[in-house]
Amino acid sequence: MDIQDRWEKVDQYISEKILKDPEYMDRSRQRSLEAGIPQINVSSAEGKLIHIMAGMTGAKKALEIGVLWGCGSMYIASALKEGGQLIGLERDRKNAAIALKNLQDAGLDSLVEIRIGDARDSLKKIRENGEGPFDLIFIDADKKPYAEYFSICMEISHPGTIIIVDNMVWNGKIVEKGAEDEDTNGIRSLYDHISERQDIEATVIQTVGSKGYDGFAVIRVK
Ligand SMILES: C[S@@+](CC[C@H](N)C(=O)[O-])C[C@H]1O[C@@H](n2cnc3c(N)ncnc32)[C@H](O)[C@@H]1O
Repeated sequence: MDIQDRWEKVDQYISEKILKDPEYMDRSRQRSLEAGIPQINVSSAEGKLIHIMAGMTGAKKALEIGVLWGCGSMYIASALKEGGQLIGLERDRKNAAIALKNLQDAGLDSLVEIRIGDARDSLKKIRENGEGPFDLIFIDADKKPYAEYFSICMEISHPGTIIIVDNMVWNGKIVEKGAEDEDTNGIRSLYDHISERQDIEATVIQTVGSKGYDGFAVIRVK
């Protein structure tokens, strides 16, 4: 068994034993596969962790940057306090349409508003319209503007806001000399930005599993 096979089997074992995803998750995944959407959603284990964090912090108002087919959205929305709302930012219309179908299937569509367009523009509008502060934010879109996304997210946060950022290890490329592509450099820029801020506390957890080798940041606004 090669190492990736082993990681996948362990993910599957964890999923079957303890994650116990609702049935709508499988139907949603299947719908997205049939629509040809790439399976670059959060892993079930990480999704469940975000769900638990949303519950732990009593999050009512949440923001997700990069919705894809709605997997992360469903983990977040299903944990929000009564009267809660999730705003999801997605630039791809097809992804947004499938995500909406999936959310309807899950009975979560009334809690989630998907805004179509470039996340940078949508974030600036949210800031201008004073729609924050958000209790929980999940950043999981294109990597080049990661630091910019994060900086705007800080402006629409409050002390105690939890910001989770996916893909912070990127198969280890962040420490690879000669890896100078814009995604890797975008992630490194966010590390630089985080290291300079005094108003947050942060960690990054490395992960292996069905999504390969990666990791995610958990940041708390002080
Ligand atoms: C990794 S997927 C998101 C997965 C999702 N968070 C989940 O775990 O279920 C990234 C998504 O971000 C979207 N995206 C990429 N760049 C974007 C941008 N500049 N503005 C808005 N959405 C963007 C892509 O279309 C894609 O659907």
